[in-house]
Amino acid sequence: MIYLDSNATSQVAPEVLDAMLPFLREHFANPSSAYRIAKPVRAALDTARQQCAALLGATPGEMIFTSCGTESNNAAIASALATHPERNHIVTTTAEHSAILEPCTLLSQHHGIEVTRIGVNREGLIDLDELREAIRPGQTALVSILWANNETGVINPIPEAAAIARQRGALFHTDAVQAAGKIPINLTSLSVDLLSISGHKFHAPKGVGLLYASRRVRFQPLLTGGGQEAGRRAGTENVAHLVGMGEAASLMLKQSDAGRGSVRALRDRFEEKILTGVSGAEINGHLIHRLPTTSNLHLPGIDSAGMLILLDEAEIYCSASSACHTGALSPSHVLTAMGCDFHRAASSVRFSFSRFNSEAEIDRAAEAVIACCQKLRSLRPLEGGPVITS
Ligand SMILES: Cc1ncc(COP(=O)(O)O)c(C=O)c1O
Repeated sequence: MIYLDSNATSQVAPEVLDAMLPFLREHFANPSSAYRIAKPVRAALDTARQQCAALLGATPGEMIFTSCGTESNNAAIASALATHPERNHIVTTTAEHSAILEPCTLLSQHHGIEVTRIGVNREGLIDLDELREAIRPGQTALVSILWANNETGVINPIPEAAAIARQRGALFHTDAVQAAGKIPINLTSLSVDLLSISGHKFHAPKGVGLLYASRRVRFQPLLTGGGQEAGRRAGTENVAHLVGMGEAASLMLKQSDAGRGSVRALRDRFEEKILTGVSGAEINGHLIHRLPTTSNLHLPGIDSAGMLILLDEAEIYCSASSACHTGALSPSHVLTAMGCDFHRAASSVRFSFSRFNSEAEIDRAAEAVIACCQKLRSLRPLEGGPVITS
């Protein structure tokens, strides 16, 4: 099989699995226990915390382990509102992941919080002037802006956006679930207060995430109970998986620019083949400010659901849109936010790559995509709006 859906979830790296296994076998003690056998477990958590901090250019004390990116996002919003109870306004964007959009919708519908969603341009980028104007000094509790978009890979100007939020007196959170490990992040020099990541997007297993909470800001936990994570997130830590996330962070950090460049070269090779082999094909999103791992392609005259079925038969796996939404019968909200019409959104497919892909796979997948386009175009011209699984 050829797996080209690493933005949905990534393959666990062999080194990660090896690092985890001792914590599922012999070192199973609760890290909070006082006896001797808990010591190596606590030490392993400390190491994982250091490894994650190094990936983000932050300090271990600023790492709060969570169960996933979704929890980190929810915890960031909850903390910003709890630490600023006099404020009732959030600024975010129309192209966020549902793990930001949905909590914001809920807050505005049931908890009296006003939410301003700034737009993105045709290339998927936010406008910094629009952001500046949207922030209400003294009223905006939080600005939350996606670092890299999961569907298009478009990278927002986070350092600049965070500086604007700081200047206007609002806390700044970024959902960096797709950015972490794929582009360099150094929080020491940024005005980012809160940041979310998720292990399974960078070759750790599913079920672990992290919220960076800058030591500059006050923090109120979403989950209360035992005093784990220095009282910032209750619940016994998922030690083996967190050890895996630490190892995965370390591997991503060690990966040189050359390593990152080789995934980009695979992505570019794939795009070149599709853009020459499929008439009218185009890239969705900014051509430069884009993750090196992501390719969102408009393939006119095909419907993405049909493409996914044909590719599935050929054991090639990719996405019509965010995998978290599969089953919903609506075009991608991200492409719609970028001004794509229904037809363009319904004939766009996302391919996402990792270091586990090879040139041979890229060539075979590109050939298959070109053949599927020809087949779908010969079967039925796109009319009346086919349905996309977004
Ligand atoms: C940008 C972004 N944010 C948040 C999430 C949610 O992360 P998790 O699956 O760890 O809850 C995802 C997952 O697709 C994502 O792509």
